[in-house]
Amino acid sequence: MTVVAITPLGIVLVTVWHMLPAYLANTIASIVGGGAPIDYGRNWRDGRRILGDGKTWRGLVGGTLGGLLVGHFQITTGSSFFSGYVSWGSSPYLIFFLLAFGALVGDMAASFIKRRQGQERGAKSPLLDIYDFIIGALVLTGLFGGGWLEYWFFGGWPSHGWVPLITLVIATPILHRSVNILGYKLGVKQVPW
Ligand code: CTP
Ligand code: MG
Repeated sequence: MTVVAITPLGIVLVTVWHMLPAYLANTIASIVGGGAPIDYGRNWRDGRRILGDGKTWRGLVGGTLGGLLVGHFQITTGSSFFSGYVSWGSSPYLIFFLLAFGALVGDMAASFIKRRQGQERGAKSPLLDIYDFIIGALVLTGLFGGGWLEYWFFGGWPSHGWVPLITLVIATPILHRSVNILGYKLGVKQVPW
């Protein structure tokens, strides 16, 4: 695919578009989550919960399927603006899965770390809460995405260098905060972070 010239705003939009399955997997998990916790109520060696009641199987499975559905809509009915700039590689659904599942794994890893630090479920942990799912999504696509991540985020995308990654670092807290406040107001999240 040849990539045509794109404005800075375009780079930001394309970057966020690429991350939508990851962003929304998290949101969908908050909506559909509940029921049996992934750790089944068990404790770690320190006597505290392994992950806590905020990480459930329904959230994990529902969020992953939800992220796949988001990707499906992106390639079937998504804006034609993006089709000239976006490529999901040869296995789009693999990338959607890695983005969505990776986001939720990152979120679980953050909960694990928070529990080890003695923080209860829902406690605020600014950096972890904001970047956990993005890091998870980048790690999984990096490991198993067959070069897709390098191409889009680490300088492969012609002439845009590290702009996409820097975009994520700046845009993620803003998006995260907005979506969480919305979720809190709609009653699907118990705390606005
Ligand atoms: N959720 C879920 N399963 C997941 C992830 C999230 O059920 N794998 C749901 C839970 O209802 C959770 C909500 O989404 O309360 C918000 O997610 P998050 O903020 O990550 O969880 P917290 O409740 O804040 O718990 P933690 O302190 O472990 O982050
Ligand atoms: Mg939380």
